[in-house]
Amino acid sequence: MDVEKIRNDFPFFSEQDQLVYFDNACSTLKPAKVLDAMSEYDRLYSTCGGRSINRLGEWVTEAVSGSRKSIASFIGASKPEEVVFVRNTTEAINLLAYSLSLSAGDVVLTSDKEHNSNLVPWQQKSLREGIVHQVVGTDADGKLDMEAYQKQLSSGRVKLVAMVWVSNLDGVSFPVSEVVEMAHRHGALVFLDAAQAAPHHDIDVSKLGVDFLAFSGHKLCGPSGIGVLYGKEEAICQLKPFMTGGSTVETATYDDHKLLQYPAMFEAGTQDYSGIIGLSSAVRYVQDIGMENIHEHVTKLNVRATEGLLSIPNLSIIGPATADLRGGILSFNIKNTDIHEIAIVLDRSAGIMVRSGAHCVHSWYHSRDIFGSVRASFYFYNTLSEVDKFVESVESISSLYS
Ligand code: ALA
Repeated sequence: MDVEKIRNDFPFFSEQDQLVYFDNACSTLKPAKVLDAMSEYDRLYSTCGGRSINRLGEWVTEAVSGSRKSIASFIGASKPEEVVFVRNTTEAINLLAYSLSLSAGDVVLTSDKEHNSNLVPWQQKSLREGIVHQVVGTDADGKLDMEAYQKQLSSGRVKLVAMVWVSNLDGVSFPVSEVVEMAHRHGALVFLDAAQAAPHHDIDVSKLGVDFLAFSGHKLCGPSGIGVLYGKEEAICQLKPFMTGGSTVETATYDDHKLLQYPAMFEAGTQDYSGIIGLSSAVRYVQDIGMENIHEHVTKLNVRATEGLLSIPNLSIIGPATADLRGGILSFNIKNTDIHEIAIVLDRSAGIMVRSGAHCVHSWYHSRDIFGSVRASFYFYNTLSEVDKFVESVESISSLYS
């Protein structure tokens, strides 16, 4: 993989060449191809899809349908209709939480490392409908407690397992095939939050057998404000739409209406056409780079960064010390040093962008009595020399404060 050549695809690097961008788990940068695809829609075809049969409307309808096919093939869905366009992973999970019919007392099982987006919607569903939300713990290396998971499933009350695939706080992946297989054996549906997995891994929903899965465009070189909820045919047809209106019905009278089939019944109102077009361009772009190449490069960067940081006294890493178990994520604390101050000094003194805080996983940090962490997250356009600059900068911050 020729990183220098790849960087030429990103206007960011020619216009902001003094900056090091290590906040990729939050949002990635966009290549010119994606920006051009979106701009082409905005400049030349800026109209609605799925309605007007004028030539511009037809172009948009075809572009949306082509994007749906590209996304279906990207995740191994058996048909494009299993792909629903939403704003982001958060909206996908809310759609699922509102649309999946469960009874009071049914259990939704999550892990203790869920992003707020895969926690709060279930807590809300519990308040609204009396479902029970339960949590499976993880160990110090971020691994799911499979014994506890098995025990929870054995109760026979778990109707949905809703779990993260790759954690945004420590980068550790759960053993999804095993998680899915065990859940199905106990009659539970499975939703996977693939927001951090989709940018780094090959996804084959058919092979995984997962019932629902979601990811966002902005974490894999696509636009923000567009994401996907995948629903396996047998699972998605159990959902009732929670948002209805334009484009969700075949016809309506003053008293009644006839809903369209999925995915249309879940895509109410005028859609983010430029986002949908940008997302499929992004998916093609990362596929061309190659998911294995991405994973390999990002791991190489993380190994080098981890080696550097581990030699700093009073610095502790969240999750396993072994970098290749943490994908593109390196979360750390320096004893007695404010995490936000570290992030600000990295930016102001070295132009290095990281994220500090609880990374929307407040529950996990509260349970461990940790305020938060500084998180560097890498992607395929980052370089070893950027990593070296980052390590040097953290070293000097650490010596300044300790
Ligand atoms: N979930 C995103 C992050 O971890 C927003 O930064």
